[in-house]
Amino acid sequence: MTNLILLGAPGAGKGTQARRLQERFGIVQISTGEMLRAAARSGTPDGRKAKVIMDRGELVPDCMMVGMIAGRIDQPDCRNGFALDGFPRTTAQAEALDGMLVKRGIAIDHVIEVAVDDDAMVKRIIGRYTCARCGAGYHDLYSKPSVPGVCDRCGGTRFERRDDDTAETVRARLAAYHRQTEPILAYYGQRELLRRVDGMAAIDEVTRQLFAIVEDSRRERLT
Ligand code: AP5
Repeated sequence: MTNLILLGAPGAGKGTQARRLQERFGIVQISTGEMLRAAARSGTPDGRKAKVIMDRGELVPDCMMVGMIAGRIDQPDCRNGFALDGFPRTTAQAEALDGMLVKRGIAIDHVIEVAVDDDAMVKRIIGRYTCARCGAGYHDLYSKPSVPGVCDRCGGTRFERRDDDTAETVRARLAAYHRQTEPILAYYGQRELLRRVDGMAAIDEVTRQLFAIVEDSRRERLT
């Protein structure tokens, strides 16, 4: 079992890599962004409130996020390990997560920063789209389906883009990342949990770096 936290700016590739970790190792991707978008689609009061905040590029209140994660890590699929993608995003969330994990006797193996340059992130995010049927992720420039207009994974032909993937909102999301999320790097750095991969490398190279971290730590545990 391996439990990870993936940290990185909007567009760093957290979601792309979390999906690959899930496919390769069965480490369950827990994306708070996906959970919030699902709540918004289902029209719950919290979901509607979150949608307004997300469309401004700001962070949803800590109390809503902490409750959401506590419920999710209690699900049986997380017993094989999980990768938190998009949580924690504030020091208060990191502290709440610590409390939650201690209570459940769960440890985080690595906090992995997917390090990127801001300038490239707007281009990455604006070009991103997903298959409407299975959620597979693509990019206008960096990751196209093999047959144009047809999803490689499920054959779906309808694709969608996120409402918060506009240039203006991406800049607000990047500002929120630097102001509220970056301080968490020092929080985990002090506890020697922090690792770093080069998120500016090609997608497959980032995957190689991440898989090496997971494989090394599993090997160490066996020796
Ligand atoms: P969330 O959904 O978490 O969005 P984000 O953090 O802004 O991250 P993204 O999903 O935009 O990027 P990513 O790093 O996953 O990149 P991806 O793999 O898609 O959160 C959305 C909103 O929800 C927040 O703004 C906030 O309002 C709210 N929220 C969520 N969690 C919260 C929390 N804990 N507290 C408070 N509020 C919260 O890659 C991007 C594109 O680039 C893709 O097209 C991909 O193909 C391509 N790509 C990926 N890697 C590479 C590479 N190495 N080279 C070239 N292209 C690449």
